[in-house]
Amino acid sequence: MPAKADLYRTAARVLGTIDKRGWVLRYRYGDRRLLEDVVLPTLDRDPAVENLLLVGCAWYTRHYPQLLPRKRVTTMEIDPAKAAFGGDPHIVADMTDIAEHLAPESLDAVICNGVLGWGLDEPDAVESAFAGAAACLRPGGLFLLGWNDIPPRNGCPPDTIAALDGLEIADIPGLETHSLIALERNQHCYQAYRKPQAV
Ligand SMILES: C[S@@+](CC[C@H](N)C(=O)[O-])C[C@H]1O[C@@H](n2cnc3c(N)ncnc32)[C@H](O)[C@@H]1O
Repeated sequence: MPAKADLYRTAARVLGTIDKRGWVLRYRYGDRRLLEDVVLPTLDRDPAVENLLLVGCAWYTRHYPQLLPRKRVTTMEIDPAKAAFGGDPHIVADMTDIAEHLAPESLDAVICNGVLGWGLDEPDAVESAFAGAAACLRPGGLFLLGWNDIPPRNGCPPDTIAALDGLEIADIPGLETHSLIALERNQHCYQAYRKPQAV
């Protein structure tokens, strides 16, 4: 583990140096461009969004907090070594325990991309993670789910997740659709939900 943490820290430092020169190394695929060029900038312009949580960190997401310069962005990742790619603040935690780390109704948006089916796999764990995320969202808050609708990543598809039943479908920020396949090759889908307004 220390070797992996050292490797990630070194990678993050090198990438950070390159980033500062204005040459941000990133994936150029359509699914990433949509997230980075449309979804996150739209959220950054949204005055109703102040506090966001990004779940799951990797070398290619290290700059995501910088795509939301007007917002308070918290990152969460289960792998301590990947804290090197997280933002500030960063929480090392399993998303199933999200409610132990963040206050109820404290978030305006949760971006959970590439976590379902990428470690968050078991139905019970998925239910706790998504129910916890919903509890941490304020009424009207956004839950953006990115997932891959191909085996072995789609063992727990969104329409089987009871925690999502309590949310309303919503438009993906910047797009006039609730769901789309952003990359055919790996069936990377984005789907957006909102916590219902309190009655
Ligand atoms: C494929 S990467 C996706 C990273 C990023 N969110 C993105 O936009 O692509 C999946 C990441 O989710 C993390 N992860 C998996 N299960 C998790 C869980 N239960 N809680 C928090 N992070 C988790 C993994 O450690 C891994 O770094």
